[in-house]
Amino acid sequence: MNGRNAHDDWWRHAVVYQIYPRSFADANGDGVGDIAGIRAKLPHLAALGVDAIWISPWYPSPMADAGYDVSDYRDIEPVFGTLAEADALIAEAHAEGIKVIIDIVPNHTSDQHALFQAALAAAPGSPERELYVFREGRGSAGELPPNDWQSSFGGPAWTRVPDGQWYLHLFAPGQPDVDWRHPEVRAEFEQTLRFWFDRGIDGFRIDVAHGLEKNWELPDVGGLPFPLPEDAAHDHPHWDQPAVHEIFREWRTVADEYSPPRVFCGEIWVGRPHRLAAYLRPDELHTAFNFDFLMAPWLPAELRRVIDATIASHAAVGAPPTWVLGNHDVCRPASRYARDQHGLGPRARNLRHFQARPADPELGARRVRAAALLMLALPGGAYVYQGEEFGLPEVEDIPAEALQDPTWVQSGGTDKGRDGCRVPLPWTSAGETYGFSPDGSAAPWLPQPADWASFAADAQDGVHGSTLELYRTALKLRRELDELGDGDLEWLDGPEQVLAFARPADADGVRFQCWTNLGSEPVALPAGEVLLASGPLTEDGALPSDTTVWLRR
Ligand code: NOJ
Repeated sequence: MNGRNAHDDWWRHAVVYQIYPRSFADANGDGVGDIAGIRAKLPHLAALGVDAIWISPWYPSPMADAGYDVSDYRDIEPVFGTLAEADALIAEAHAEGIKVIIDIVPNHTSDQHALFQAALAAAPGSPERELYVFREGRGSAGELPPNDWQSSFGGPAWTRVPDGQWYLHLFAPGQPDVDWRHPEVRAEFEQTLRFWFDRGIDGFRIDVAHGLEKNWELPDVGGLPFPLPEDAAHDHPHWDQPAVHEIFREWRTVADEYSPPRVFCGEIWVGRPHRLAAYLRPDELHTAFNFDFLMAPWLPAELRRVIDATIASHAAVGAPPTWVLGNHDVCRPASRYARDQHGLGPRARNLRHFQARPADPELGARRVRAAALLMLALPGGAYVYQGEEFGLPEVEDIPAEALQDPTWVQSGGTDKGRDGCRVPLPWTSAGETYGFSPDGSAAPWLPQPADWASFAADAQDGVHGSTLELYRTALKLRRELDELGDGDLEWLDGPEQVLAFARPADADGVRFQCWTNLGSEPVALPAGEVLLASGPLTEDGALPSDTTVWLRR
């Protein structure tokens, strides 16, 4: 086990690599990634130098939402493999010094989950229905949904069952919300936590952590925006309800019973930094994704504002900041940054928010490399979504008939959804599926573009200046330089278009500095030892636009 990971506080500065199992690597040739594929690629992850992997849901699922609809939380989806294979993966990852975090989906189950099937089979008003959110409809014959809540994928958040009642689903109809006030729901999920902790996993990423509790009066949203404004005096009826914190306090006591203690990372979209930090109080979750950073446009003032707000809000509760550029729900950053960044709304995260703007892929590629080095120099932890180490762009032209994301259907064909960042990874520049599946396999579950050969792992391996080698070197330096942990950051004076900061001095008084040029003209750098740059410096050693450099002086 490597030095840093051997400590209980490894999560305070970990680089966590997200594996979306359907799209990572397919060993058995059915066109869908699997656990055997992940195991085969552990050497890639070890060479990359990540501290942990987070695996998106691998449980049995009818795949109404690509696995975020779980029908059994204590088993493995056969398409992905078996429990025995999961155990082997956990052991093999640990042997490489890599921690394993898995996804838990507590806001909703699949509609095929035994508890929901029992609720459907039982009568209105039965105890079985109390585990979920069944209600009578409005209108003279109950023909209208109980309130105006909308599904995140589009359309009403309610579906009617044959006996006339409606059930709540903040996502797809195949994802009924559970009622977290019910002790059986709490006991069920606690058992699931223990089931996996006992198998040796190191933590959970918590899906929609801000959604579990509701205002149980179920009032209409009535056009209330979310995230709410910074100074809002009221709460939203189904996001970020104060009662949710009690659930995570209970979960923390379970995680703390283990040795070493297990950790949680919350998926929490609440906007307001102090509301996010509330989830990170010492008796709640360990970390949360920093979506404000992910959504910040590539503009110096915006990035600096988000970095400062993040550091301040996390410091207030003693939690490490985290940084993230992409995941399986948002447009790949290389394509986001390929667009003009001015005037992008603060929540622009999916392709539909900026697809109309002309894209410059080379610019996006340069910026995303600069962004990666900026992110990895900041204090705290970082998340890397699979394929970012190859510089993969969003696939923007998946044909309508190939789209799988429920967003496409639920939005009535107006929103293509998230499939563009979920296209199976290219591992080899040759081969029918760029090595995602063995040759001769079924077609990949989403079609791959014809021009991905240059992004493949083998096309970048050992190639000086490739994105893969940039990530490898950056992660190696992060491990070697203790000052890149979760210590302080000090902004340095520099031109307006530059973000420049120093990290704490090492034992010899030498300081690590990170300089990012977001302007259009090269900028002179201070004297110092250049450790790594996201692109070539100018002939006279200046920092070109959209480039980050790490140096020591
Ligand atoms: C967040 C997950 O990341 C996303 O993929 C999923 O659709 C929703 N939660 C619902 O589970």
